[in-house]
Amino acid sequence: MSGTSLDGVDAVLLDAAAAPRVLASVHHAFDEPLRRELLALNSAGDNEIDRGARLGNELAKRYAAAVGDLLRGCGRKASDVRAIGCHGQTVRHRPDRGYTLQIGNAALLAELSGIAVVADFRARDIAAGGQGAPLAPAFHATLFRHRSENRVVANLGGIANVTRLPIEGTVVGFDCGPGNCLLDLWAAKHLGKPYDEGGEWAAGGRVIAALLERLREEPFLDAPPPKSTGRDLFNEAWLTARLRGEAPRDVQATLLEFAARCVAEACKGAARVIVCGGGTGNGALMRRLADLLRPAPVESSAAHGLDPSLVEAAAFAWLAERTLSGAPGNLAEVTGARGPRVLGAIYPK
Ligand SMILES: Nc1ncnc2c1ncn2[C@@H]1O[C@H](COP(=O)(O)OP(=O)(O)OP(=O)(O)O)[C@@H](O)[C@H]1O
Ligand SMILES: [Mg+2]
Repeated sequence: MSGTSLDGVDAVLLDAAAAPRVLASVHHAFDEPLRRELLALNSAGDNEIDRGARLGNELAKRYAAAVGDLLRGCGRKASDVRAIGCHGQTVRHRPDRGYTLQIGNAALLAELSGIAVVADFRARDIAAGGQGAPLAPAFHATLFRHRSENRVVANLGGIANVTRLPIEGTVVGFDCGPGNCLLDLWAAKHLGKPYDEGGEWAAGGRVIAALLERLREEPFLDAPPPKSTGRDLFNEAWLTARLRGEAPRDVQATLLEFAARCVAEACKGAARVIVCGGGTGNGALMRRLADLLRPAPVESSAAHGLDPSLVEAAAFAWLAERTLSGAPGNLAEVTGARGPRVLGAIYPK
């Protein structure tokens, strides 16, 4: 898994039995040049086909290296693994135009790893009229649904998405706004770091009410689900258009408040909120979420048996298993697709 934050690759070894279990994991961070090239490819530019194909090859090498490391670390062989579920790196997400694009050369990954690869999970759902996202809700339901407690799972990735798991009735899931992506880009610009460690810089700033108001006017936030988004919307141009020369640290504080409110509003009514994704490392964001959602407990998924930084990667391993078993991976009521679909393309080993 490599997500919108462009922080790197998370690889997990998943036992995809009825009660899925992560057996081992590794994280490989992207170096700055790769991160920059991937970020650049998220907006229109010159020679995108060649740049995308070459970056896809580079990603396949990074994914293969992560898989190699993962297996060495736990003493397993390629032949012990049924398949790699490879999400790829999103460079465009435009369900409104009938497409989404995740790069990462799956054929090369199968060649380098000697393991079958399942990739391109989102396209089929979009072909069936859906958003192609989010796809983690089925996995969240498998892991975290409770028979006597209304729960919501909130994934704080580059974009934040929630999965509402009612005691009875249908699961609802949608992208609720920016998670870390705006915080990260502002931190990169003003601190020269990929993220604001623990949200400390934001915590020392002041929330600017007028700016918060302008951020919250974004129509995507009020649109009813199904809905999904990406860097196509929440990017530097979007943020810049809403700034009026405010002090950088106060902007960071406001962006944190903005992210927290987007997530908290989507979690309303939950008896318990289970949080995953890298944003769980942002203590200031977690504290603000807990304040906004009180009295509902806001807990890391670690309290429910799975490290928060591994949930998304585990979800795509689980989805690969669904594909190989001929089982649907999407929840049509979440994505808005015409029905359940077997997702992905299989690249045999
Ligand atoms: N210690 C920390 N302090 C603050 N932020 C952190 C910390 N650790 C991780 N993060 C944030 O988490 C991000 C990585 O999160 P994650 O990998 O879940 O996102 P992602 O790759 O975008 O995944 P997704 O597919 O869910 O969008 C980092 O870019 C950073 O913003
Ligand atoms: Mg990530």
